[in-house]
Amino acid sequence: MSDATGTLTPAPHAVPAQSEAGSPRVHTQDGVLHAHPGESVLETLERHGHHVEFQCRSGYCGACRTPLLAGSVHYAAVPLAFVSQGECLPCCCQPVGAIRLDIQKG
Ligand code: FES
Repeated sequence: MSDATGTLTPAPHAVPAQSEAGSPRVHTQDGVLHAHPGESVLETLERHGHHVEFQCRSGYCGACRTPLLAGSVHYAAVPLAFVSQGECLPCCCQPVGAIRLDIQKG
């Protein structure tokens, strides 16, 4: 689902309650990664040693498309690449509180 702010919410399963949202962080199969203010999810992942495929880093190619298992992300601008329910484009979004991605270091 998308709204005018560009916030996408995946299908409900293991979604942190809004009251648990707190500081921006990314849960992966390797643990919890704390996001720095203003950085993209991709930047958070890279800073913690995750290798995510990317090309444009600006939301139009879709190369970084990643399953979003729980939580919500915010896009400063609506991305041009197609992103469906339960996915996100880490290069151009930020976590709203805690999110969970289906990703691991590799
Ligand atoms: S790298 Fe192109 S949309 Fe993310």
